[in-house]
Amino acid sequence: IDPVSKICCIGAGYVGGPTMAMIAHKCPHIDVKVVDINADRIAQWNSDRLPIYEPGLDEIVHSSRGKNLTFTTEIDQAIRAADMVFISVNTPTKTFGVGAGRAANLEFVEKCARRIAEVSEGHKIVVEKSTLPVRTAEAVKRILSNTANNATFDVLSNPEFLAEGTAIEDLLEPDRVLIGGERPESIEALVDIYANWVPRARLLTTNLWSSELSKLTANAFLAQRVSSINAISALCEATGADVDEVAAAIGTDSRIGPKFLKASVGFGGSCFQKDILNLVYLCEYFGLPEVAAYWEQVVRMNDHQKQRFVTRMVRTMFNTVSDKKIGIWGFAFKKDTNDTRESASIYVCRDLLLEKARLCIYDPQVSEHQILNDLEYVFTEGDNKISEAKRELIEQHVTFASSAQEASSDAHAIAILTEWDEFADADFEAIYSTMKKPAFVFDGRNRLKDLGLKAKGFEYHGIGF
Ligand code: NAD
Ligand code: UDX
Repeated sequence: IDPVSKICCIGAGYVGGPTMAMIAHKCPHIDVKVVDINADRIAQWNSDRLPIYEPGLDEIVHSSRGKNLTFTTEIDQAIRAADMVFISVNTPTKTFGVGAGRAANLEFVEKCARRIAEVSEGHKIVVEKSTLPVRTAEAVKRILSNTANNATFDVLSNPEFLAEGTAIEDLLEPDRVLIGGERPESIEALVDIYANWVPRARLLTTNLWSSELSKLTANAFLAQRVSSINAISALCEATGADVDEVAAAIGTDSRIGPKFLKASVGFGGSCFQKDILNLVYLCEYFGLPEVAAYWEQVVRMNDHQKQRFVTRMVRTMFNTVSDKKIGIWGFAFKKDTNDTRESASIYVCRDLLLEKARLCIYDPQVSEHQILNDLEYVFTEGDNKISEAKRELIEQHVTFASSAQEASSDAHAIAILTEWDEFADADFEAIYSTMKKPAFVFDGRNRLKDLGLKAKGFEYHGIGF
């Protein structure tokens, strides 16, 4: 097999965009085309304001765009010209039919495979970049075997481990790159691309199924750590232990390690819940109900943590938040991203709205439009529509602010739901002076824990102490 000189990536999202920008940046000899059916998204990738907020991304994109990195909607041409085609489309949880609420919706992946089969000529390597259920490559291979022009294909699995907010660091220096496949020549072709900047010892190769399953397993283990420490946070609140002290104490054990032990209002993001539910579905499908139940508990604990946070707010504020103004600090699912998918904020805001609280929301990167979309979506019912009553609830109880301080003005409470660094720099004296008293702060990230808010007059509540 000749070295790869032309890549096409289908899906210009949070994964396709940054990963392909990094490949183009590190491999000037490879022409990289990122394609998408969403013309608006492609236009944004071609503009000065990229569709994704990610530290360091602008520089990487600008270094190659217009040279060997192109964003385009001309999907068929890009597939036809490429030696290697990445599939990096979304694989959300199915919302309908068999496996609804658990199984991954593979409609978009299958459509890509069919498109590749239809327009390709010659030989191509097809790379699964999307997170997929184990054994999806089998289906992809079967679809690709029905080709219009006698094209031939090899399928690789190359799951992506980047985390949002640190995508560029993660891509520059990955702990490992995982490549699963069957034919050594095809595996080597992809290894050679990454070897342009990743040490060969970090390029792990496995069979297809191990690679597909490792991605779901990695996310399940990471999410399990968060749910485990969050479970302990509830016990800390009941007993006088401090969850951050417990996390530090257990994290020094080299077998446990210090990372991913930060108790919070609950994990969010597009991956953890979706991938665990997918794992649960797969276990059930393969006749392993006990294994399924074990992993499902990670998601249940996370739901409980979000509910617990709201319950604690209501109880602390004299059992009612109705008509009280609450400043919501942060809507993204973690700092340094504009992504709100499955953000704990969505669910906390929903439950506070059901208590008829008035919310004033501030996030440094998330647009009002996105927040309103998320709140409307979380209130949709079986028919995928939002009722008039719920729409009115949002209209009458949600406003927006352009700073954390503004969101807190005249408020009964502040809820910190994303750990944005700028929140620690707020002028707490000024904020205190405008708030109703007692001035409640509910810190879902323990971000302000060491800032002496109690001494400044606030009634401060964090997670797990
Ligand atoms: P995304 O929704 O941001 O992007 C997917 C893109 O694919 C969209 O722009 C959509 O328009 C496009 N698309 C869908 N069907 C298409 C088709 N038939 N032809 C062309 N374009 C099409 O999703 P994402 O966050 O980038 O995730 C992509 C995959 O990567 C998922 O499987 C996800 O689980 C996985 N993943 C995501 C992350 C993350 O941090 N977001 C990390 C690792 C893995
Ligand atoms: C995750 C995986 O980390 C990444 O490897 C995979 O490719 C995609 O899914 P991401 O969802 O982008 O990445 O962010 P991550 O840093 O894992 O955080 C996920 C959620 O867990 C966030 O809401 C975060 O705030 C929360 N979290 C994380 C905690 O509450 N405590 C922690 O200790 C760590």
